[in-house]
Amino acid sequence: MHATLPLFPIEASVQAGRTDELFFIVLGMSVVVLGVVAALVIGFAIRYRRGSPAKRGPLPPLISREIEIAWTAGTLFTFLFVFWWASSLQLAAKAPPADAMPIRVLAKQWMWKMEHPNGVREINTLHVPIGRPVRLIMTSQDVIHSFYVPVFRMKQDVLPGRTTTTWFQATRTGTFRLECAEFCGTDHARMLGSIVVMSAPDFALWSEAQPESDSLAQKGAALFRTLGCSGCHATQSAVKAPDLAGLYGRAVRLADGRTVKADDAYIRDSILQPLKDIVAGYQPIMPSFAGAVSDADLQDLIAYVRSLKDGGTP
Ligand code: CUA
Repeated sequence: MHATLPLFPIEASVQAGRTDELFFIVLGMSVVVLGVVAALVIGFAIRYRRGSPAKRGPLPPLISREIEIAWTAGTLFTFLFVFWWASSLQLAAKAPPADAMPIRVLAKQWMWKMEHPNGVREINTLHVPIGRPVRLIMTSQDVIHSFYVPVFRMKQDVLPGRTTTTWFQATRTGTFRLECAEFCGTDHARMLGSIVVMSAPDFALWSEAQPESDSLAQKGAALFRTLGCSGCHATQSAVKAPDLAGLYGRAVRLADGRTVKADDAYIRDSILQPLKDIVAGYQPIMPSFAGAVSDADLQDLIAYVRSLKDGGTP
């Protein structure tokens, strides 16, 4: 029924139906209260207008007190009931069934990275099977984001340095919008994605067709060559550039005397702002790749550099 209302998102999860029930009950109660109050205001304004013959004076005290008690108790219990209902829905959103499929979500400016239990990774898209509980285990790499899927009536903040979880069970197949619901910087409005809900057999086929989990590093290796990085960073290169083998996770001494750890952020900065951290003993000759590589490319490149940790060669 709700789905036919204009501008109202369809219901595509078990939670969506329950949330809408609460929403419409509270909306209905509000409309009733608003109607009664408005009718009383208008009715009394007309009845007791200046010069009207209506009788003024206090109400009979007994009737007044009983009505007062009934009114107070009635509203108190109504509000307690709504509070209980809404909180039990919220608590249920925090407690996934034990057999829920765990998906890891990493938010960052400005993308969503998902990882399936079998190692399949996705960016800004999440494929899930219909009718199966899915648990999201989420954290942020930088600032606060919020994982919001309107058709699931599901919204959960994603915080740096902390793990938050939520869960859903899809009830419709299709492609649904994922949005970031917390202002997180310049491209917040573009931090969009999609949730693709598939039938169980389709999902199994899709899952099997995905490349192995080291695909990020493999894509990164290809980029490393096509972008020309290997021209300078390869071990046998004539141009003197830092060797990347075994770099990841190591401490790097910089020309200005600082020492930094070669983590994701450092590699990202080195690609986008190469002049920021010049490695001791090297010339500042690397060009910036800002604008030339997308966030996804950066992830691939970082994954590639990370893969060189264990004795690979660029
Ligand atoms: Cu991420 Cu807004």
